[in-house]
Parts: sequence; C-alpha cells; structure tokens
Amino acid sequence: MEYVRVAGVAAVAAGKIVPAEAKGHKLMLTRVDGQYYAAQRKCPHLGFNLCRGSLDGAAVVCPLHKAKFDLTSGAIERDPKLLFINMKAKHGLTVYPVRLEGDDILVGIPD
Ligand code: FES
Repeated sequence: MEYVRVAGVAAVAAGKIVPAEAKGHKLMLTRVDGQYYAAQRKCPHLGFNLCRGSLDGAAVVCPLHKAKFDLTSGAIERDPKLLFINMKAKHGLTVYPVRLEGDDILVGIPD
C-alpha cells in the first residue's frame, strides 16, 4: 500500500465532502469530529457522485436514493429506496486509510 498526498488539511472543512484523486482512484474526502475519511466517490448503488451527498455523523448519505454508508468500515447502514421501492446496494463503500503528515492528507492506496 502506498500513501499518496491528496490534499492539504485546509481544503477539507469540517462537514464538507470534497473530491480528490490518487493513482487513478476517484475519492471523496471529508472530516467529521476532527477525523478525516476517504472513500470511493461513486455510490455503490448506481454510481452517483457522493461528493454531492450529505453526512450523518461518520456516514455518507447518497442524495439519489438515500443509501447510507459508514465511512469507517464502508458498511451499508441503509439500503437505497425510491419512493416505496426498496432496493439493494451492490456492495459496501470502499474506504481508504488516511494519515496526516503536517498539513498534508495522505490516503493509502492498495498496490
Ligand atoms: S445511486 Fe446512490 S443510492 Fe442510488
């Protein structure tokens, strides 16, 4: 695993979700209660951009069908739903380890 600098800490305000990219992986970055999180940017349901989602504690909610994913583990906390139709996310969210070095945010990308 290689740790790659993706942003400076000033670029990720608390409660905001910002896009980043590392070694071809499109990521979303966020900060909740002083903790930084990195995850895949595409929703595991139908690929919507999770940078346009919202946070619920340390979970991200996709705006399209309201699926909710734990940013710590990537686990599905709530499956997607469209009106009265219950759907299934294909899999959990891929999450990446985050490390800080000075004012830099580094994300661990698997080899
Ligand atoms: S695309 Fe995200 S919940 Fe459907």
